[in-house]
Amino acid sequence: MHKLILGMAAAMFLTTGVANADAISDRKAAMKSNGGAIGTLVKMVKGEMDYDPAAALAAFTTIREDMEGFEDLFPEDSMTGDTTASPKIWEDMEGFKAAVAKVEADLDAAIAAAPQDKAAFMPVFQQVAGNCQACHETYRIKK
Ligand code: HEC
Repeated sequence: MHKLILGMAAAMFLTTGVANADAISDRKAAMKSNGGAIGTLVKMVKGEMDYDPAAALAAFTTIREDMEGFEDLFPEDSMTGDTTASPKIWEDMEGFKAAVAKVEADLDAAIAAAPQDKAAFMPVFQQVAGNCQACHETYRIKK
């Protein structure tokens, strides 16, 4: 998760200059929100914050909302510019859409489970968080 935060900081220093800057800024805003929500969950994982079922549910719900329609924020003319999205997204749009559908399904399950204690929360968290890394490894470039 530290890598994500560093990535976020690095991205702020890059400059814009692209045809479809709106799609890029929209998808980055959704992902920044994901970063904030996962930060709360990570604090609970690490014990820096007591497990709070309502806060966990709120964080899962935020991420679920951020992922809604995420795959539509990648028009052809948003491939270059101030973005860390990999060209692989456009080469393999079906695979990318499947990755979005997978995280959405895992989030729906997390929300339905609404874990009431930390023991129940841990596997649910891992299931969701695995998607962040998996998608970033395949569909994001390191800058
Ligand atoms: C289906 C693919 C996918 C999933 C799942 C995914 N991301 Fe991302 N994420 C991306 C892509 C693509 C970018 C690059 C967006 C850009 O720069 O245009 C990104 C960028 C980010 C960024 C940097 C945003 C910025 O300001 O540049 C953060 C933070 C982030 N993701 C957090 C998360 C977290 C936390 C999760 C899991 C809850 C997650 N992401 C799940 C695809 C995904």
